[in-house]
Amino acid sequence: MRRGVLVRLVAVGLAAAAVAFAVAFFIPWLPTSAGKERDRIDFVFWFVTVICIAIFALVAAVILYAIVRFRARPDDDSDGAPIHGHTGLEIAWTAVPAVLVTAISVVSAVALAQNDRLPSKHLRVNVMAQQFAWSFSYPAYKGLTSSELRLPLNEAVELKLRSKDVIHSFWVPQFGQKQDAVPGITTRLVITPKRLGTYAVVCTELCGEGHALMRAQAIVMRPRGFSAWVASQQKLADEAAQQASAGGPGLALFRTSGCGNCHTFKPAGTQATTGPDLDNLSADARRAGKPLEQFVRESIVDPNSYIEKGYQPNIMPSTFATSLSKQQLDQLVQVLVKDQQ
Ligand code: CUA
Repeated sequence: MRRGVLVRLVAVGLAAAAVAFAVAFFIPWLPTSAGKERDRIDFVFWFVTVICIAIFALVAAVILYAIVRFRARPDDDSDGAPIHGHTGLEIAWTAVPAVLVTAISVVSAVALAQNDRLPSKHLRVNVMAQQFAWSFSYPAYKGLTSSELRLPLNEAVELKLRSKDVIHSFWVPQFGQKQDAVPGITTRLVITPKRLGTYAVVCTELCGEGHALMRAQAIVMRPRGFSAWVASQQKLADEAAQQASAGGPGLALFRTSGCGNCHTFKPAGTQATTGPDLDNLSADARRAGKPLEQFVRESIVDPNSYIEKGYQPNIMPSTFATSLSKQQLDQLVQVLVKDQQ
């Protein structure tokens, strides 16, 4: 190959590499990492991206050079000289990709193995997925269940994921990993948060009509703030348990039926916002044009009969008509209408 050709090929290749690198590097394609596992995934991502940029530059240089150098010229309809291929080139374009793909596999396998490793000192969180809400319980802290995933900074966390109904998938983009929650089995995910902040927990498996709304918050806190939160939640849970025994079976049903995963209801101490706030049922009933008790009953057994403004139909399960007995339904309605003015 003549020297001038090589120089031109290298120049075009470097220009193509510079453009590809700028697109990869200067556009923020991914949210900023907030977890150690995500950093390892990012390393694999960049390892692969650099290889891709090099190959792209090589291919682009040869194509651009060939388009210009060997373009059709006026008055030249002749065929090119017949050739028989090039053994050296064929060996190179087989061996080089084999080496690169093997390297990518090894780097990925190492990152995956490291991401799966759990230090002996870690926090355990049980994650329950159901249509269409997440709940997080902390077995190390008795009675602590939350609709938010609060995590202390720099402490490894093992999530144990379960599902009550269909397949969901747990994903916090800033933590970089996805894991399915599958009915009947328990799956796991290790997270080591390294940056304070509030991030979205996203369900990333189409699980029904409320899939797009199946979100929660992951909040990474300083260890001291986390301990304070644990203490305050446990106090709330104790108070709620006392109120439940005082408030009778209705409040207990509210809890076991999972109402608090989606609804705010002060007597039960819940603060979820997927569904309407149940502390304002009188106003809702007025808007629906129905007597309060009838309105509450209908909304439990036939959730789509009236949809409060700002909310969507088909999110609340319509199974309570069959899963609750007549007596249980009465108790639940009573506790819900009790403190409404
Ligand atoms: Cu749960 Cu999508």
